[in-house]
Amino acid sequence: MNILLLGSGGREHALAWKIAQSAEVENLWIAPGNAGTANVGKNVPVAADDFEGIKRFATENKVDMVVVGPEIPLVKGIYDFFKNDPALNRIPVIGPSKSGARLEGSKDFAKAFMMRHNIPTARYFSVTKEILNEGVAFLKSLKAPYVLKADGLAAGKGVLIIRDLEEAERELDSMLNGMFGDAGNTVVIEEFLSGIECSVFVMTDGKSYKILPEAKDYKRIGEGDTGLNTGGMGAVSPVPFVDQTFMQKVEERIIIPTVRGLQQENIDYKGFIFLGLINVDGEPYVIEYNARMGDPETEVVMLRIQSDLVDLLKGIADQTIAEKELIVDSRSAVTVMLVSGGYPGNYESGKVITGLSEVKDSILFHAGTKEKDGKIVTAGGRVLAVSSYGNDKNEALKHSFENARHIDFEGKYFRSDIGFDL
Ligand code: AMP
Ligand code: GLY
Repeated sequence: MNILLLGSGGREHALAWKIAQSAEVENLWIAPGNAGTANVGKNVPVAADDFEGIKRFATENKVDMVVVGPEIPLVKGIYDFFKNDPALNRIPVIGPSKSGARLEGSKDFAKAFMMRHNIPTARYFSVTKEILNEGVAFLKSLKAPYVLKADGLAAGKGVLIIRDLEEAERELDSMLNGMFGDAGNTVVIEEFLSGIECSVFVMTDGKSYKILPEAKDYKRIGEGDTGLNTGGMGAVSPVPFVDQTFMQKVEERIIIPTVRGLQQENIDYKGFIFLGLINVDGEPYVIEYNARMGDPETEVVMLRIQSDLVDLLKGIADQTIAEKELIVDSRSAVTVMLVSGGYPGNYESGKVITGLSEVKDSILFHAGTKEKDGKIVTAGGRVLAVSSYGNDKNEALKHSFENARHIDFEGKYFRSDIGFDL
């Protein structure tokens, strides 16, 4: 089989690493990939949302399946682009239709979907400029802190959590007036939920589903989960509080109604659903949906899947996921992200990375790297995900931290407290 994977981060390296282990794979291409994906497949200089470029490559190289890593091509409709083109429609795309990707691309759509299907989530009100007064009235009916979310994609920055009511009113006004561009034309005002978060991943073929290992990610730059939000500084799987009782509630109250709801609304969805959940006194609520796998969660989830990933992906494509067997590794997996100095603010790129060949007892997933003059250099804020197995979380973390200390580049930073709260 010839597989084309779209994307260039740590998530894509982890997916590529797992796909490459399948005996069914003849060729694995990654567009555009990074210095790490080049070790498990071939990089193709085509952007993940260059649909015409992807079409040309897929037809010239007899691609049999397209696997989509990031959300942008999904929200832009790559699934529909393939489905509606006679030259491409024999090639399955792993990822939802444009309509399904609204679960991530529009928070207003996601909230209304959850309401329609009785899926537990925070109370909310969607506001536009025209009905600002009603929005302010809803805001005033809530207790602090106040949660404001830009409806559209805002590169992970569109959520504000504010303690003071007057400040929340001011920020609401700024959001509706272009603070996040068009993404903020509609703002979702939400009740604040208090609890501990986790991520649950589902593979669905539109009819049935498989639940992948859960994970917890660490979003903030500083130790003790302080400071600015990042794309994710590390992750751990399994998550101790996600026990059988909790997972059963997640499946009954969230996963089943989500898959059934998509089906009832005739929304094509053959791909991953990422549930951002919060545990409020033992009860699961949905904080957000994403239409893809998480990053850095994929860098631990792939370690824990023992089954052939390509066989599972084929099950998504031909709607036989119910017949597939998902075998999960009982060991713990963790990842620690090495980032560029200054991230998530301004940072420099092009720093030479050393120590890569001496890594022991960890699996390195490249996030922002590239090859330059025979050397591997930094090429992004998040640079490397150092993933490890252990009989428990602490054993796995010991391996990741040892390698995180040894690998070096100018300005390197990582959080040495991943998993601290579990
Ligand atoms: P989102 O982009 O929707 O995942 O929001 C970013 C982060 O904001 C989440 O990971 C939560 O930590 C926090 N958050 C979002 N919505 C709520 C809520 N209703 N209550 C508490 N925290 C929230
Ligand atoms: N780790 C969170 C995300 O991928 O959005």
